[in-house]
Amino acid sequence: MIFTGHEIADIFKEKFSKEPKLFFSPGRINLIGEHVDYNDGFVMPAAIDKGVYFAIAPNNTDFINVFSADMQDELHITLGGIHKMSGWKNYILGVADQLIQRGYPIGGFDVAFGGNLPVGAGLSSSAAVECGLAFALNETFNLGISRIDIAVICQKAEHTYPGVQCGIMDQFASVMGKQNKVLLLDCNTLHYETLPFNANDYTIVLINSLVHHSLDGGEYNVRRKQSEKGLGVLKKKFPSANTFRDITPEQVIENEKAFDDRDVYNRCLYVTEEIARTKRAAGLLKADDIEAFGKLMFATHDGLSRLYDVSCEELDFLVTLAKQHAEIIGARMMGGGFGGCTINLIKKEKVVEITELMQTQYEQKFGIHAEVYVMSLSDGTHAL
Ligand code: GLA
Repeated sequence: MIFTGHEIADIFKEKFSKEPKLFFSPGRINLIGEHVDYNDGFVMPAAIDKGVYFAIAPNNTDFINVFSADMQDELHITLGGIHKMSGWKNYILGVADQLIQRGYPIGGFDVAFGGNLPVGAGLSSSAAVECGLAFALNETFNLGISRIDIAVICQKAEHTYPGVQCGIMDQFASVMGKQNKVLLLDCNTLHYETLPFNANDYTIVLINSLVHHSLDGGEYNVRRKQSEKGLGVLKKKFPSANTFRDITPEQVIENEKAFDDRDVYNRCLYVTEEIARTKRAAGLLKADDIEAFGKLMFATHDGLSRLYDVSCEELDFLVTLAKQHAEIIGARMMGGGFGGCTINLIKKEKVVEITELMQTQYEQKFGIHAEVYVMSLSDGTHAL
């Protein structure tokens, strides 16, 4: 279901019979730097114009009352009684729990939320919900939390309640995004630059495979464990190395025999390659060489599919189709993987023609009508 900010405010008024404050929290795309936010890498995300609206007001009780418009479901719980549940509720409860544990003086509140961000599409609807709520509570109860700390708190909420051991990228992009800009984030230090995205004649287009991805399934956490194990193997070979950043892909290849698990070796090769690739991509973006940038996106897809093993048949097919068009200069699966969207750089005047053709070919093969979204880059979480 799709909701506008007005609709969410109206739903709130009907449920709680008072005036709310309204907030918007965006989803994110990521141009390059995939599965390296938790592996000492750099990422290049941006907030988008699709996201989640929150209507909220304090209620001067001990109760949290939440209505999810998308799920048409409710949650009522006392501040003192917060515990893990399932599904969407954990995003809300995880944030409330983090704020309480850190000693922030939140009171009871009423909230309704919903928006226009497809769930399970790799656009980070979970971070949008977490960051939207944390930001709204920060404003409602004057907690004085900085934007970056909101991202860090929400990442922790995701680890503790839904249980996905995610990196910082999604929450950071949702809160820190800037209109028409991409962020170049150093995930180890949280230093970042905002870079204009001068794609010249090209535009960013997502193609949603509609293969539903859920990171709760555990494969994400498995990748994280494999990477940690691999770093351990490499550190034994290179005692002065502290992080993946200190190791080159060539060094991984030279030490192939040190790995007794082929998957672990492949993960390490991908991670070190992707760290190097993202650094190169940042240089190319700064130099306005968008064509060379696009080639790196194809290379990232190849690594995610062959070495990191987080793609699927449908996403591989969409990228193979993209490669057949000279007007698509880069494409790859985006986000956690196992489904969701591909991100494509497509010549502006060819977007409709090419994506319609790709939709037809995809439907012929999988019987699914893929969705197409032309992206605009937006500001991070904000009051309306
Ligand atoms: C998910 C996680 C992020 C990141 C991406 C892959 O979106 O939440 O932290 O690891 O996958 O790049």
